[in-house]
Amino acid sequence: MGRVTDLAAFSALLTDEGQTLLAALRDYSPAQELAVASRLRREHPAELVTAALGQARLRQRAVAKFGEQDAHRMYFTPGGVEQSTRRTVAEHRAAVFARLGVRSVADLCSGVGGDAIALARAGIRVLAVDRDPLTAEAARANAAALGLADLIEVRCADVTGVDTSGYDAVFVDPARRGGRGRIFDPEAYSPPLSWAVDAARRAPHAALKIAPGIPHETVPPEAAAEWVSDGGDVKEAVLWFGTRPGTVTATLLPGGHALTGRGLPDPEVRPVGRWLYEPDGAVIRAHLVAEVAEDLGGGLIDGTIAYITADELRPTPYATAYEITDVLPFNLKKLKALLREREVGTLTVKKRGSAVEPEELRRKLKPKGPHAATVFLTRVAGAPVMLLGRPAAA
Ligand SMILES: C[S@@+](CC[C@H](N)C(=O)[O-])C[C@H]1O[C@@H](n2cnc3c(N)ncnc32)[C@H](O)[C@@H]1O
Repeated sequence: MGRVTDLAAFSALLTDEGQTLLAALRDYSPAQELAVASRLRREHPAELVTAALGQARLRQRAVAKFGEQDAHRMYFTPGGVEQSTRRTVAEHRAAVFARLGVRSVADLCSGVGGDAIALARAGIRVLAVDRDPLTAEAARANAAALGLADLIEVRCADVTGVDTSGYDAVFVDPARRGGRGRIFDPEAYSPPLSWAVDAARRAPHAALKIAPGIPHETVPPEAAAEWVSDGGDVKEAVLWFGTRPGTVTATLLPGGHALTGRGLPDPEVRPVGRWLYEPDGAVIRAHLVAEVAEDLGGGLIDGTIAYITADELRPTPYATAYEITDVLPFNLKKLKALLREREVGTLTVKKRGSAVEPEELRRKLKPKGPHAATVFLTRVAGAPVMLLGRPAAA
């Protein structure tokens, strides 16, 4: 990435002719790609058509993260789509910075600008730094396309040489993908986590985006750790500096519900009751299952499994409730018979602590009938069990 030819092709997209092509490709369907490309090549230079098609494809992929409106105005690199922060999550972070009174942020490792855009929209002035020339060009084009150029200054540089002393906060979103896929060792991030922590300690406020699977021992004592999910999927963990040291929070988007740890011991284990609660992934990653169990007046079905059981149905944003009708040792034949008896044709399979493959199980069971049910394949007292139930009525 960042070769001179790529940069020239990218700049060509910003010309009137490039813009005409991008507009023509706004809603193109990949199935018609060959036909569309050959028609456009009759009237426009072949390289420009190729570049526009590539960009149109990236924009379509980016819709899931940025929404129709923004995605079709923005510019992406293939890595930029994958690595950028989705709009909901970036807006949440920008709102936290704004609440802390932050007016300017040095966005170190800005990528194509997912975070920088949300920060600027929250009224925060941003210095967006990325060392990849094509990525920095895309970030610059994005700031202009979204009318945020006055608030976002893009600099193509290595972040390790940037002076951030004039900024209220730094935000670091290191590259966590190498040539061989995802990087798990935080010291192998680019830049390494230890560099980002040093940069954070020098700033009045800071946020560092890290992988959600990071061990809790890695969190520096003066940081506040936040795990963020969106629509039930865990998206990231963030280390905040300059606010609430030592706290652990799970934030659930899009609702914005935030649960903070109370330092509770592990919940008690108890027999499976009428209600089973499946905690949100952010709650589990943040190790806050005990807090949710306490709020629900419940306990765990097994000391090693993050399913909460309780006798009451209490509304909570932090877990999904199911009414349990049957608790049985795991046995395929018995499950098949039970589903036939209950005329269950639509079966949702959930598992935690079981090696059974849900798809394979559904194939073997061939459920038929007018009713729906959920089966949980899990463990109780270390032994495999199946719990049959249905989602609590909303
Ligand atoms: C995870 S992406 C950032 C995504 C961004 N927050 C967004 O929402 O669009 C990481 C970026 O860090 C850049 N990067 C990695 N090491 C860098 C360094 N030492 N200096 C500057 N940029 C770097 C990569 O080029 C990549 O674009």
